[in-house]
Amino acid sequence: MKHLVIGASGQVGHALIKALTEAGHAVGGTYLSHPQPGMVMLNMTDRDAVEAAFANEAPDAVWIPGAMPDVDRCEREPEFSYQVNVEGPKNVMAVARRANIPLVYFSTDYVFDGFDGPYRENDAVHPLQVYGQHKVEAEQALLAYGQTLVVRPAWIYSDEPNPRNFVYRVLSDLKAGKPIKSAADQINTPTPAGPLARHALQALLDGHRGVLHLAGPERLTRLAFVERIAQMAGFPTRTIESISVADLPLPAKRPLNGGLISNHPTYAIQDRLEDLDLSPLLTAP
Ligand SMILES: NC(=O)c1ccc[n+]([C@@H]2O[C@H](COP(=O)([O-])OP(=O)(O)OC[C@H]3O[C@@H](n4cnc5c(N)ncnc54)[C@H](OP(=O)(O)O)[C@@H]3O)[C@@H](O)[C@H]2O)c1
Repeated sequence: MKHLVIGASGQVGHALIKALTEAGHAVGGTYLSHPQPGMVMLNMTDRDAVEAAFANEAPDAVWIPGAMPDVDRCEREPEFSYQVNVEGPKNVMAVARRANIPLVYFSTDYVFDGFDGPYRENDAVHPLQVYGQHKVEAEQALLAYGQTLVVRPAWIYSDEPNPRNFVYRVLSDLKAGKPIKSAADQINTPTPAGPLARHALQALLDGHRGVLHLAGPERLTRLAFVERIAQMAGFPTRTIESISVADLPLPAKRPLNGGLISNHPTYAIQDRLEDLDLSPLLTAP
């Protein structure tokens, strides 16, 4: 089976390429601004370019981890967010529909307001910010195509030494002795990228369609998440300061009492933060 991953140069994209390759599938991937060996450049807001990518790759399934996931930038630049987070995925869906192939779209826990989490797939969405509103709009548009699987993860992390990886950023600050401010009033279900990719692939192959929550098994505050990372790596936690989200001057509102659980235990991710191998992150510059 041939897969096309749009946004393969990102955190989830890398995990997808690895999971698909390890499972013996043929894979093509695209990047936008971070060139990667073997990948082609694609801006999914350009419908003609999406058509050309499909013509070249002839995929049997297409994945969209591609997005503008910077929630504060989306709040400041809503038109840009709309183009990337709504128009881009809609372009891909239109071409996938014509090719009659399944589509996996990565959404977010930010479709919920975080007043009373954790949330299940059938809970009502109520985003607090532009990013979440646009992800809801994309979800609804893509679900109109009956072969769409919408995967919602939350607070994704991995073992990749890349600044897009939250665990790597925390370890870099700890190594540099920089103080870290972390919110004690924001709670979520951190999600490891590798298992996320593998479980999403299994759901696709099983023919699962519609919305699927794929998040880690633990609900942690941002503060506890950061403290755990420090403890696992043997750093003292005294440089980590407990704050409230309201103390941070951020343009976009965050869901506070959030997190995801699922009505589909078959795909439940069991991997906890402690299962993450930190060595590639600790040895990286
Ligand atoms: N990170 C999280 O904690 C988190 C939590 C919940 C949900 N999600 C969702 O999960 C998905 C994957 O997130 P991620 O962490 O992997 O994001 P990421 O690391 O920022 O990767 C985003 C990817 O999208 C590509 N891209 C950006 N604009 C594009 C465009 N116009 N056309 C085509 N590709 C474009 C980027 O390419 P270049 O890098 O080459 O520019 C990159 O490959 C997103 O839908 C995000 O909303 C993320």
